[in-house]
Amino acid sequence: MYKHPYTLIMKTIIEPFRIKSVEPIRMTTREERIECLKKAHYNLFAIPSQDVMIDLLTDSGTGAMSSEQWAGVMRGDESYAGAPSWFRFRDVIENITGMSNILPTHQGRASERLLVEVMIGAGNGKGKIVPNNAHFDTTRANIEHSGCETIDLLTPEGQDPSTDAPFKGNMDLDALEDLLAKRADDIPFVMLTITCNSIGGQPVSLENMKAVRKICDKYNKPFILDACRFAENAWFIKQREPGQQGRSVEDIAREQFDLCDGSTISAKKDGMVNIGGVLLFRDQKLFQAASNLLILTEGFMTYGGLAGRDLEAMAVGFEEVLCEDYLRYRIRSTEYLGEKLLESGINIVRPAGGHAIYIDAADFCPHIPKEQFPGQALAVGLYEAGGIRSCEIGSVMMGEHAHMELVRLAIPRRTYTQSHIDYVIDIIREVHDNASSLPGYRIAEEPDALRHFTAKFEQTGVPSPV
Ligand code: F0G
Repeated sequence: MYKHPYTLIMKTIIEPFRIKSVEPIRMTTREERIECLKKAHYNLFAIPSQDVMIDLLTDSGTGAMSSEQWAGVMRGDESYAGAPSWFRFRDVIENITGMSNILPTHQGRASERLLVEVMIGAGNGKGKIVPNNAHFDTTRANIEHSGCETIDLLTPEGQDPSTDAPFKGNMDLDALEDLLAKRADDIPFVMLTITCNSIGGQPVSLENMKAVRKICDKYNKPFILDACRFAENAWFIKQREPGQQGRSVEDIAREQFDLCDGSTISAKKDGMVNIGGVLLFRDQKLFQAASNLLILTEGFMTYGGLAGRDLEAMAVGFEEVLCEDYLRYRIRSTEYLGEKLLESGINIVRPAGGHAIYIDAADFCPHIPKEQFPGQALAVGLYEAGGIRSCEIGSVMMGEHAHMELVRLAIPRRTYTQSHIDYVIDIIREVHDNASSLPGYRIAEEPDALRHFTAKFEQTGVPSPV
């Protein structure tokens, strides 16, 4: 475990905010929740959020905004072109990233779609391939929608959930060099996701990013960052990378962006807003092409499918996320959840990620074979026992591409307090103590693609112990 010296000085790291506005949580009973589960065909996406007590489905767009962000919402100027809110947003993004070709989009996947269309071409991807440390599912889907292949180039330690290593999100540099040496002509760009969501919110080191840059230069390939969680990544670098402790997170964040040629960002993560995204290019021609497409399908370049008030909220959010008190609390509170689970003998992807803890569901329910979806069994079990909504990331979501059977507990930003997390820990322990009684599941109905969102499940009963 990576302990910041602060944890030794301060017994409890307090939430660095106080609460000005609250949303009641409706307390439900186990009987009510069993009914909800039946109605939802055991798919947690089909449960109304009013029937959820602690919602850890995602950290995306579900966080609390600050009083300054809400003040920005009121200030928002809704002019079609050239609103002051746009200029404020643009200046903040330029200041953080050093890039001046900035497009607002409605969320990360809109940025991804534009990126793919200008750098690969709609339907022109056949025979091409885009490497990444690990593609997020919308990134992969957008790239593959063009006909292009995708490949994840993680290091062996990045694929081993049980070992602690400081930068498990790192790209496998030899594998990248190898791929470029063999197929340079087929590679439109190289991508890197910080932090790497698909394998547990694990960070990428500056050293690794610099090496990726060098390989891209050698083969003359653009280097694109998926920078949704750029501030959390910068904080991990400050904590863990030799020689980085004396730097400000702003400085580290800037260096991350200085290394790339462009970036897609979902502002619903480290932008600390409920909706919004950013697309950045250093190259003027690509920026022009993306601007034209943005106007065609999203909105004029100075609002990109958002309201002026959303741009204001993003301008404030992107500045607040770089506050070190916030990042210390954020990363430490996720780590706290991970630590308590490990202490209770519950295996997670180690070390704790920035935005989420990923429970090893195959280990949690050894009696449930992967054909009966141990991750689904655990996620349903946590909802039934305590009204906690998590997300299966395993054979339901990934089909035969699943490397692991995981359940993600994603922590919305600035939303839940430590006692909420203590409750989550209590419930997980209780379910763990009775894990052998969790039933397996089969899929009764599923759509052609992205089945986890809408599939209907049936319980198969409790499999006998293996
Ligand atoms: N890239 C990464 C690494 C992400 O985690 C996400 C979203 C996106 C791109 C797409 O952004 O949702 O704004 O279109 N991740 C959310 C999650 C949905 O729950 O992890 P978006």
